[in-house]
Amino acid sequence: MAGIGRKTDTWGSRFGFIMAAVGSSVGLGNFWRFPFTAGENGGGAFIIIYLACVLFLGLTVLMAEYAIGRKSGMSAIEGIHSLSRAEGKSSNWGAVGWIGSLAAFFILTFYIVISAWVIEFIPQALSGSFQGFAEEAAKQTAAAQAADPNAAAITIADVSTQNFVKSIGDKILVGAFLIAFIVVNVFIVARGVKGGIERAATILMPAFFVLLIGIVGFALVKGDAAAAADFLLRPDFSEVGFGTFLAAVGQAFFSLSVGSCLMITYGAYLSRDTNIPRASGIIAGADTLVALIAGFAIFPIVFAFGADPAGGPGLFFISLPIAFGAMGDLGIYVGSAFFLLALFAALTSSISLMEVAVSWLEERQGVTRPGAAIGIGFVLFMIGMGYVFSGAFIDFADFVTGNVMLPLCALLVAVFAGWVMSRHMFESELGEGNVMNIWRFMVRWVVPPALGFILVFGTLDSLQGFGLQLPGFLTALLGPNVVAG
Ligand code: PHE
Repeated sequence: MAGIGRKTDTWGSRFGFIMAAVGSSVGLGNFWRFPFTAGENGGGAFIIIYLACVLFLGLTVLMAEYAIGRKSGMSAIEGIHSLSRAEGKSSNWGAVGWIGSLAAFFILTFYIVISAWVIEFIPQALSGSFQGFAEEAAKQTAAAQAADPNAAAITIADVSTQNFVKSIGDKILVGAFLIAFIVVNVFIVARGVKGGIERAATILMPAFFVLLIGIVGFALVKGDAAAAADFLLRPDFSEVGFGTFLAAVGQAFFSLSVGSCLMITYGAYLSRDTNIPRASGIIAGADTLVALIAGFAIFPIVFAFGADPAGGPGLFFISLPIAFGAMGDLGIYVGSAFFLLALFAALTSSISLMEVAVSWLEERQGVTRPGAAIGIGFVLFMIGMGYVFSGAFIDFADFVTGNVMLPLCALLVAVFAGWVMSRHMFESELGEGNVMNIWRFMVRWVVPPALGFILVFGTLDSLQGFGLQLPGFLTALLGPNVVAG
């Protein structure tokens, strides 16, 4: 295909790029996915494995993605394609770009639904409806016991669960918020990288950090910080199996936005004077810090108010309202701030996910950027509504995209960058010194075998959680299964 050239748009400033990239990384992955994944996988031990995955695998692939992006200056699919041709290698490597881009797209289809739930909880928090949970529980208990004196008491957690089920069951309202969220995304992405994505991120991310600090301060003062620290910092390796490793890798990649070719896409707009290894360090560091901070904001509240740390995807939407409801009037402010915070974070991530597809459509299909954004927005609306109305599949889509497609794409990116491309190809991107030596060693000898191993055994282990029967010797080999099916 002739006529595809380097991107002409670039980030306006280094700060703007860092905000956009941190904005992409920091998202629902940190607030919604990280706490329940850590909770389901045993807390401390999971977090240690998670940190190792970020440091040894995530960071290496992140650098590889930026290097590929800036070197080619194109969208992920075209970029990998053109680099392999330049090296005289098979252009089938472009398939790697497809896997990542499809992962990004499918993540986006449910990401927008969770975002719509988040939006729905903001007015709930503001109107003080969580504050009525205790009263409602007492009322329901009285009614149940009037009918049958032996009926069990209805707890606040039951009421919060009812509230969650009722909230996401209000399909018209969720659908309306879904449309609103898609429209905002389309609007921002249509305005371009500098004028849309970067501008939104430079406003939203600083606001996000201010809110975050406020909430952590509150959690540490009012929540049960000791119980949270005990849970988060005391590793219990007895529950660790291959599934735990897969969950940790998947979570690390999801949170860093690695393995979706997103950072290839963002790298294409990167100017020459940005130091890729340093920028990668800042981005991975900020994302990890926010995940840990989010853990320290959520778990003290969870423990202080007796919620279940392994509450699954509902942890965020069931446990937190209980906590906010128990804080009296203060809960109105803290609760609304918290959901607003999550919304800001979600938005800067969803626009990045959308950019993966838009950047490709724009260069390859010859449509304008607004046209591409509107088209993608429409498809998202159709699929998103499917999730809203069926009310199912999000768990499974999350597993397949986050825990299988992202690690698989990252594995292939590593093989491509380490084995298919020559060292010389990336000298202009990563320099020619120790950093390059270490990176090249990692991307060749550490990342591919580690990811291959974790993917194969971890997927088998996790599928057991989804009800697959494996031969006995494999079950014994795989160790305890901790992934909830
Ligand atoms: N990193 C984002 C988050 O944590 C999600 C995401 C995944 C964004 C993959 C882009 C690519 O919410």
